[in-house]
Amino acid sequence: MRQNINVHDLGGRPVIVGAGLAGLMTALHLAPEPVVILSKVRLGEEAASAWAQGGLAACLGPDDSPDLHLADTLAAGEGLCDPQVADAVVRVAPAAVEALMGFGARFDKAADGTLMLGLEAAHCRRRIVHAGGDASGREIMRALISTVRRTPSITVLEGIEARRLLVEDGAASGVLGVGSCAPVLFSTGRVVIATGGIGGLFHDTTNPPGSFGQGLALAARAGVELADMEFIQFHPTALDRPDRPMRLISEAVRGEGAILIDECGRRFLEAVPGAELASRDVVARAVAAHLAKGHRVFLDAREKPGTAFASRFPAIAAACNARGIDPSREPIPVRPAAHFHMGGIAVDARGQSSVPGLWACGEVACTSLHGANRLASNSLTEAAVFTRWAAESVGGAAVRSNPRPVSLSVPCAADPTMLRCLVSRILGTVREGQALLDAIPLLVSLANRKGPASDPAAIALMTAVSLSCGKKAEVLTSAPTFHGGARAPGTRALPSSRRSRPDGI
Ligand code: SIN
Repeated sequence: MRQNINVHDLGGRPVIVGAGLAGLMTALHLAPEPVVILSKVRLGEEAASAWAQGGLAACLGPDDSPDLHLADTLAAGEGLCDPQVADAVVRVAPAAVEALMGFGARFDKAADGTLMLGLEAAHCRRRIVHAGGDASGREIMRALISTVRRTPSITVLEGIEARRLLVEDGAASGVLGVGSCAPVLFSTGRVVIATGGIGGLFHDTTNPPGSFGQGLALAARAGVELADMEFIQFHPTALDRPDRPMRLISEAVRGEGAILIDECGRRFLEAVPGAELASRDVVARAVAAHLAKGHRVFLDAREKPGTAFASRFPAIAAACNARGIDPSREPIPVRPAAHFHMGGIAVDARGQSSVPGLWACGEVACTSLHGANRLASNSLTEAAVFTRWAAESVGGAAVRSNPRPVSLSVPCAADPTMLRCLVSRILGTVREGQALLDAIPLLVSLANRKGPASDPAAIALMTAVSLSCGKKAEVLTSAPTFHGGARAPGTRALPSSRRSRPDGI
C-alpha cells in the first residue's frame, strides 16, 4: 500500500548507506564536505569489517614490490581479474595503509618501529599488515568510529535502515529510510552504497547475520547493473562448532605453519601444489571434498605456531578456549563457510555504478579486482583504496537534488531465515546444475511476493540465474557439478555477459 512520505531535503549532501570500513572511510575522505551516514545499527555493531582477522595486503616489505603483489592477485583470480584495476590497486595499497594510520589505526609493529607483516595463502611474500595479532578489523573500526564521531561534517543516523533506492530520470534521487519514527525519504542526487556482503544468506558463514545482501537488493530493484553474482568465496577454516555465525580461524594461522589433517592425523593436502597455502578456493574445495567423504577436518597448530599461538592469535585462542579447545595442545575442528562476495554492484575505477549519482564500495561492489577468487586480505585493501577513489568522484559530481512530495509503498524488513537452508544447498562450495534449475521457480515466486524473504530470494535468484544462464552451454550440459568461487574449467564469461540487469524481479 502506498503512503505519503516525509521528504528530508539534504541540500545536495551525499548519503552513505552502511557504516563498516567502506562507509566510514568514504565519509572521512569526503570531509570537510558534509555527508550523512545511514546505519541500521549502532556504529560498529554488525559490521563484517570489525570481524576481519587477517588485515590488509600491501607491498611494504624490502623484498616485495607492486609487481609481485599484482602477480599473486591475478593468479588467485583464475584469469578473471581486471588487470588494470588490480595494477592500480596494488600500487596504492601502501598509501591506503598510511591513510588508515592517519585515521588513527594502530597496526602491529616490530621492535625497530617497522610494520610487522604476516603471510597468508597464495602470497609469495609476507605482506599482511595486521593489528592486535588477529584483531585487525576491530582496531580499524575503533579508529574509524572515533575519527568519524569527531568529524563535524559527518552526520551519523543510527537505527535507520535503507529500504529503497529511488531513481528518477535515470539517476539516483534519494533513499527511503525506516527507523523507529515514520519513514523518511532522504532526497539527494548522490548516494554511496556500502552495505557489505551476502554471507548471512548461508547457514555456515563467517559474516554477521545482518550481512545478507540488502544493499544489492536495493540496487537491483532500482535497475542498477550487477556483476559476477556467482563469485562467492568460501573460507576453508571456520571453527566447526554448533554456534552460528561461525568463528573464523584466520588463514594467517596456516601462514605461521599450521597444517590441515583429518581424524586419522593424515595431512590430506600434502600432494596439492602449495598445500595449506594454496589459494583459498583450492583449499576450501579440498576440505569440502574430504568432509563429503565422511572425514572430519582439523587445523593442527600444535607444532607451529605451537606455544606461540595465544600471543600471535589472541582472539582466536580465546574463541577456541571458550569452546573447550586449546589450539597449542589439540587440533581445531574446521569446515568451509561462506566468507566473501566478489560479485556485486558493477562499478568502474571511481566506484561509479551504471546509474548516475550512485556509487558503491566495499564488499557490496564488484570492482573486478578479485576475479573468481580473492587473494587473502585483498578485501580490506580494496575497500580502503576504493573509498578514496569513490570519494573523489562523489565530491566532484554535480549536486542535483529535486525534493518533492512522494507517495511510495514501504517494503517490510527483510529476513533471510527461511532461505538459508535452500541457499546453503544450491549455492555452497559444490553447486549442482539440476538443483539450481529446480530452485529457480521457487525463488522467482518468493522474490515477487512482498514479504520478508523477498529481497533475500531476489539475491539468491540472481546468483542462481548467473550460474545457470551465463555458463549453461558449457557447464550445465557437460559437467553438472562445479564449485563456488571458481569457474569450471574452460568457462570464461565475457565482461559484458557477466553483468546482469535484474529486470523482471
Ligand atoms: C583470514 O584472516 O583468513 C581472512 C582474511 C581475508 O578474508 O582475506
